[in-house]
Amino acid sequence: MSNPSEVLLDVNGLQKRYADGTLAVQEITLNVRAREFVSIVGPSGCGKTTLLKTICALLAPTKGTVKLHGTLITEPPPQMVLVFQDYARSLFPWLTVSGNVMFPLRKRKDISQADKEQASQRAIEAVGLTKFAKHFPWQLSGGMQQRVAIARAVAFRPEILLLDEPFASVDALTRADLEDLTLALRDEFGITMLLVTHDIDEAVYLSDRVFVLSTPPSTVLEEIPIPLAQPRDQVRTRSEAGFLQLRNHIHGLIGKKKDDGMKSFILDKVPSTLELESDPVS
Ligand SMILES: Nc1ncnc2c1ncn2[C@@H]1O[C@H](COP(=O)(O)OP(=O)(O)OP(=O)(O)O)[C@@H](O)[C@H]1O
Ligand SMILES: [Mg+2]
Repeated sequence: MSNPSEVLLDVNGLQKRYADGTLAVQEITLNVRAREFVSIVGPSGCGKTTLLKTICALLAPTKGTVKLHGTLITEPPPQMVLVFQDYARSLFPWLTVSGNVMFPLRKRKDISQADKEQASQRAIEAVGLTKFAKHFPWQLSGGMQQRVAIARAVAFRPEILLLDEPFASVDALTRADLEDLTLALRDEFGITMLLVTHDIDEAVYLSDRVFVLSTPPSTVLEEIPIPLAQPRDQVRTRSEAGFLQLRNHIHGLIGKKKDDGMKSFILDKVPSTLELESDPVS
């Protein structure tokens, strides 16, 4: 198990330009320490998914590096698992809950069949779905399906879980449950969490540190430590003065940048408007 103060993931000067020329991520530098909960918040389309896919080497960076335990990552490492937002597309409808959770383990030669079954049962229990282990995904609610996706990731026993807006498709109450489940899994299994979200309150509630991204192409606007008491509690934590200050600060940051973006957009247009308006006078 990693030392909690150790930098587990080190992302340095990461840039991603797609083949069609779109610059999705301009330059991101961040790190995640062992067993830390780090969130990345940023406006829609700012390159969050691209960033996560590049971090876990599903995409190759155009510039910069990603290191895990100080070792350069060039292909998806087994210590990292990515959970997508869209559970409906990530689960296999022809496999049961248990079958889905076991699926990624099938190729792990380092784990015996008995241990795979035990790891999968344990993960299903941790997300509260033991009674539904033999159900198929289409027999479950959206929140339950997302629990299956999380159990599947946890059963793999990753060192770090990358979560791409994993709670975006469920209702508010289920979302709060899943948030708390994620915190509990971090504590129970010692998994480091890197979450991408556009929900500022969620990022503050869950995290030890938050990285705020700019409008696209993204850079880091600010790194914000979240010194709120642990364990977190949906009602108590969210009503603390510190919570409100932090979320207001981040809203201000993102809002200001949006305004700046809008101002420069308007200013770009101003000269031609003035020229048109001043024509009759001259
Ligand atoms: N395969 C691709 N080829 C070209 N451009 C892409 C590709 N995938 C994403 N993009 C572009 O990269 C930019 C960032 O997209 P990305 O999906 O990473 O943003 P995001 O922050 O995750 O958005 P959202 O908040 O909507 O999930 C967008 O302009 C998008 O159109
Ligand atoms: Mg996305």
